[in-house]
Amino acid sequence: MAHDGTKFQRGDFRCRHCSNRPRSEGSRCGTGSAARTQIDTVAKEAYHREFARAIRKRAGVPVGLVGGLRSPKLLEEILRSGDADFLSMSRPFIREPGLVNRWESGDTGRATCISCNGCFLPGLTEGGIYCVVEKKARETPHG
Ligand SMILES: Cc1cc2nc3c(=O)[nH]c(=O)nc-3n(C[C@H](O)[C@H](O)[C@H](O)COP(=O)(O)O)c2cc1C
Ligand code: SF4
Repeated sequence: MAHDGTKFQRGDFRCRHCSNRPRSEGSRCGTGSAARTQIDTVAKEAYHREFARAIRKRAGVPVGLVGGLRSPKLLEEILRSGDADFLSMSRPFIREPGLVNRWESGDTGRATCISCNGCFLPGLTEGGIYCVVEKKARETPHG
């Protein structure tokens, strides 16, 4: 029930990507995953923003946004716009656990996570997740 008394029904919020896809196809979103890959431009970031905006407007409750957030300028703009009350990031912190400190120090370059989803595999096969790209970069001799 929304703050204004509106009753929600199943299907009120539908993903524009996967709402008509058969359940057998598996993923929650037809674009492949909740953890979308190839977030290599600002335009591809914050791919659930429109849903956060709609839910917040209709339900009148604080809403957190997750998915493809990579650039601090965009993060600030989203909060200023009122589309979300708080923001959440997953893969950027797997690659850069010190990301917030980096941004706070003035280095506001976008998160270095390349959104490849390589970090899922060690979680399944090695008992814990880590950034495979960062590991490879550290193991590759310079020059
Ligand atoms: C290794 C890994 C494990 C995850 N496990 C879960 C999970 O158990 N439940 C869930 O709802 N989302 C899970 N996610 C999805 C994240 O919570 C997040 O929605 C997704 O990665 C998109 O955000 P990001 O672009 O900041 O990574 C996982 C993501 C990663 C990378
Ligand atoms: S393996 Fe590393 S670069 Fe790839 S999605 Fe995971 S954290 Fe990001």
